[in-house]
Amino acid sequence: MQTLALAADHGGFELKEIIKQFLQDAGAYQILDLGTNSADPVDYPAYGRKAAEAVAGGQAERGIIFCGTGIGISIAANKVKGIRAANCLTEFMAEMSRRHNDANILALGGRTVEPELAQKIVKVWLNTPFAGGRHERRVKQLDALD
Ligand code: RB5
Repeated sequence: MQTLALAADHGGFELKEIIKQFLQDAGAYQILDLGTNSADPVDYPAYGRKAAEAVAGGQAERGIIFCGTGIGISIAANKVKGIRAANCLTEFMAEMSRRHNDANILALGGRTVEPELAQKIVKVWLNTPFAGGRHERRVKQLDALD
């Protein structure tokens, strides 16, 4: 069973809980919930880092991270070597982030994406494979920037 690391700050906490339940209902994933576990204010860089390190270190195959906009926490995650985190607002962005960029972390904004759309984005993102081919070369070039 694939392990997914989830992490959020207070701005993404509520959406994290919704997506966690959605994934548990799907029954196909093991969830590594790295917090936060309440709506009390916390700083997103620490949570982006936790999820990124879990993915980079192999404790999870992929990660889904949440903050108010998905921006801050994705910036944090992308500082960790080997991480390609994509902040997606549409199903198309989610599909392309997998197909072309081989994104290993999906970032979502609790204040920018409604739960119903977020579930669709997650589903597409989890089910879309990397296309490889010419995109392989570009992803290698991305990783060389680490
Ligand atoms: C917290 O208020 C907010 O700044 C954070 O959740 C996120 O949106 C940062 O990018």
